[in-house]
Amino acid sequence: MSIRTKFTETFGIEHPIVQGGMQWVGRAELVAAVANSGALGFITALTQPTPADLANEIAKCRDLTDKPFGVNLTILPTINPPPYDEYRQVIVDSGIKIVETAGSNPAPHLPMFHDNGIKVLHKCTSVRHAVKAQSLGVDGISIDGFECAGHPGEDDIPGLVLIPAAADKIDIPLIASGGFADARGLVAALALGADGINMGSRFMCTVESAIHQKVKEAIVAGSELDTELIFRPLRNTARVASNTVSREVVETLNRGGQFEDVKDLVAGSRGVKVYETGDLDAGIWSVGASMGLINDIPTVGDLVARMVDEAEQLIGSRLSDMIADEEEENVA
Ligand SMILES: Cc1cc2nc3c(=O)[nH]c(=O)nc-3n(C[C@H](O)[C@H](O)[C@H](O)COP(=O)(O)O)c2cc1C
Repeated sequence: MSIRTKFTETFGIEHPIVQGGMQWVGRAELVAAVANSGALGFITALTQPTPADLANEIAKCRDLTDKPFGVNLTILPTINPPPYDEYRQVIVDSGIKIVETAGSNPAPHLPMFHDNGIKVLHKCTSVRHAVKAQSLGVDGISIDGFECAGHPGEDDIPGLVLIPAAADKIDIPLIASGGFADARGLVAALALGADGINMGSRFMCTVESAIHQKVKEAIVAGSELDTELIFRPLRNTARVASNTVSREVVETLNRGGQFEDVKDLVAGSRGVKVYETGDLDAGIWSVGASMGLINDIPTVGDLVARMVDEAEQLIGSRLSDMIADEEEENVA
C-alpha cells in the first residue's frame, strides 16, 4: 500500500514526504538516504562554498542513489549576494529535475528552470505569497507555518489555520511544512487539504544527517519550548535553538540594538561550528518547535517507513473506526 496524492503524481515521488533545504545540513548523504527511502530530499545549494562544489555534491549524491532528488536554492536579500546565476546554471547542467526555491520571489529563476524541464516547488510562509507563486507558474507550493525552523515570516499563523487557508486557494500540489515530525502530522496535513508534508528538524535528527551527535541528542532532549525567535524587531524572524547566543541576540535587539550589535553573534561561521564540534553554544543553529515531537535518532529509511506505515494505519483503522454505521447507531 502507499499514499498517493497530487504531489506524488506530479513530482514522481513514492511517498508524500519532503526534506526541505537546510543550511549546513542538507548534504549528499542525507539527501541520498531520503531519496532511497522513497521521499524527496533537497541538497542545499548555498551550503556549498562555490557553484563547482555544488556540482561535486550533486555528483556525490548520484553515486549514492538512483532515485530522484532535488536542490534547494534559497534567495535571501544580502549585502554580498552569492552568485545565484552560477548556482542555477550548475543545477541545470547537472540534470537536476526538481528545485525548491525559498526566501523571495522565484520569478527571475522560473524561465530557465522550466525551459530545462525542471519542476519548481516554491516554499513560502503566507497564503498571499503562495497565491502569487501559483500565478507565476510554479509547479508546487510548500507552505511553512509559524512552528517551522528557520524563517516563519512575520504573520505568526500556525499550520492549523495556514494549511487549510492555503488549500482553499491553491490548485497545484501543496506541501504542508513546519511542526511535522510523525505520522499523526502527516495524516493531519492530508486532512487539512495538503498533498504531503515537508520536514526539516525531523530529518536533521537522523543517523545519516552529517551533524555532530551532540546536536541530535540535544534535539531529542529538547521540548517544544526550547526555541527562540530572533530578529523579530528587524522583521526578519528566524526560529532557532534556545541557547546563550540566541538569548543574547533577543535581549540585545529588544533593548533597541541594531543588526550591527548582533552581527558577530549570528555569523554563519559560528553557527556551522555547532554542527561540526557539537558545542551547542558556539553560535546560532536552526530547529523548530517540532523538537517536542522528536524522541529518537532513527535511520532515514526507518523513519520514512514508520511514518508511512503508521499513517496508513491511522487512516485505515483509527479514523475509519470512528465512522459509526447508521444501523449500529440505531441498535445502540
Ligand atoms: C538546520 C536547518 C536549516 C535550514 N536552512 C534552510 C535553508 O537554507 N533554506 C530554506 O529554504 N529552508 C531552510 N530551513 C527550513 C526547512 O527547509 C523547513 O522549511 C523547516 O525546517 C520546516 O520546519 P520543521 O523544522 O518544523 O520541520 C532550515 C531548517 C533547519 C532545521
